[in-house]
Amino acid sequence: MANVTVIGAQWGDEGKGKVVDWLASRADLVVRFQGGHNAGHTLVVGNQTYKLSLLPSGLVRGKMGIIGNGVVVDPEALLAEIDRVRAQGLTVSPETLRIAENAILILPLHGAIDRAREAARGERKIGTTGRGIGPAYEDKVARRAIRVCDLAEPETLSMKLDELLLHHNTLLAGLGAETFEKQALLDQLLAYAPRILPFAEPVWERLDEARRAGKRILFEGAQAVMLDVDHGTYPFVTSSNTVAANAATGAGFAPSALGFVLGIAKAYCTRVGSGPFPSELHDEIGRRLGERGREFGTVTGRPRRCGWFDAALVRQAVKVGGIQGIVMTKIDILDGLDELKICVGYDINGTRFSHLPAAMQAQAAAKPIYETLPGWSGSTMGARSYAELPAEAIKYVRRIEELIEAPVTLLSTGPEREDTIMMRDPFEG
Ligand code: GDP
Ligand code: IMO
Ligand code: MG
Repeated sequence: MANVTVIGAQWGDEGKGKVVDWLASRADLVVRFQGGHNAGHTLVVGNQTYKLSLLPSGLVRGKMGIIGNGVVVDPEALLAEIDRVRAQGLTVSPETLRIAENAILILPLHGAIDRAREAARGERKIGTTGRGIGPAYEDKVARRAIRVCDLAEPETLSMKLDELLLHHNTLLAGLGAETFEKQALLDQLLAYAPRILPFAEPVWERLDEARRAGKRILFEGAQAVMLDVDHGTYPFVTSSNTVAANAATGAGFAPSALGFVLGIAKAYCTRVGSGPFPSELHDEIGRRLGERGREFGTVTGRPRRCGWFDAALVRQAVKVGGIQGIVMTKIDILDGLDELKICVGYDINGTRFSHLPAAMQAQAAAKPIYETLPGWSGSTMGARSYAELPAEAIKYVRRIEELIEAPVTLLSTGPEREDTIMMRDPFEG
């Protein structure tokens, strides 16, 4: 048995959804373990494009999808997404989707607080997706959150809503935002209950059985290591741990059985929202990467900031995330550039760093130190074997492998499922 855990190695949107969909053909179950509908995963299969936020990407292949306890679930967003993908012809039923009974719910008040706080931050905003992710995780650790299983207990819901509203209405009023009424929220939750509860179960039990039966489990991360609440560019991060270790906590699964840790990294770098980005490009090349790469957020439609590949950053992600192999995506977007730069470290107020230090001002002051490599005139777009790649493209990949101290085990050369070159099968460990 070999499982695979997929995580983002940069600031998100590396192509995790495409890779998980591709790998899912050989998996039995696909498990989301953190994040919520802040994630946006685009899968291109033939002439269909699927945009998934909460649903595990294996559903497109008809594989059993599991939403683990570490995910924050907005019931309204989940039901809307289920309706959307059903309209595209996918089957979503309790036979194909299971949700941890102990997963946390996102309520409308979480989004309201998220947005009101961002507005109050003004220039210093984090640039969140405004979907209530942070406030929902805060409620979880504050021990007042409503969980999926509570939908079956109206008295529990009523009691928890009292506590939640005492806290949140005070905050909302202080921020000058509209407050929420208990009865309306209660009615809404009770209305969701019959549509959500059929999916709920102790998923840890199913996962344990699957592990003992030698089934292949694919853990699908959302966001990325540089958005991890501990290891990322704090405070410009999301509110969950995105590293592979959290797949065990976020699903209730043996840490020793998470399998091969696959990090996904673009051949360049992008970021949505605020925060440090040392190798960001504000020039014609940055604009070109954004245009060719169609770098617009799946969730918010915001243009993504673009820059050169940051090997110092990905090396750090490899170390803290426990990444054993990298999938390099979107190399086709670099086709036709005369030369390519790779960030190999930072100059911070005259001192050289090989990693990004944790302090905010140091991160903001980090200037990239570049190594320059020749570009290629040939095309990598849609290549499906190593032999089709221009020599300079192979050199670029090899140099990155040295710098990040991890092998590139898969190369993605286009958005389509089959535009993928496998160097080593991650399920073989
Ligand atoms: P995720 O959040 O990590 O799943 O990534 P997103 O789906 O948000 O963003 C990645 C985008 O790049 C999607 O639109 C994919 O269809 C697309 N994509 C993925 N891999 C490749 C690739 O190798 N080449 C190109 N050109 N596009 C890709
Ligand atoms: P996927 O799974 C890219 C970013 C937001 C913001 C910060 C905090 O598609 O890679 P949040 O709403 O989570 O509190 O926002 O994190 N962010 C993402 N950026 N891809 C994502 O998901 C993201 N999810 C959150 O833009 O900067
Ligand atoms: Mg995305």
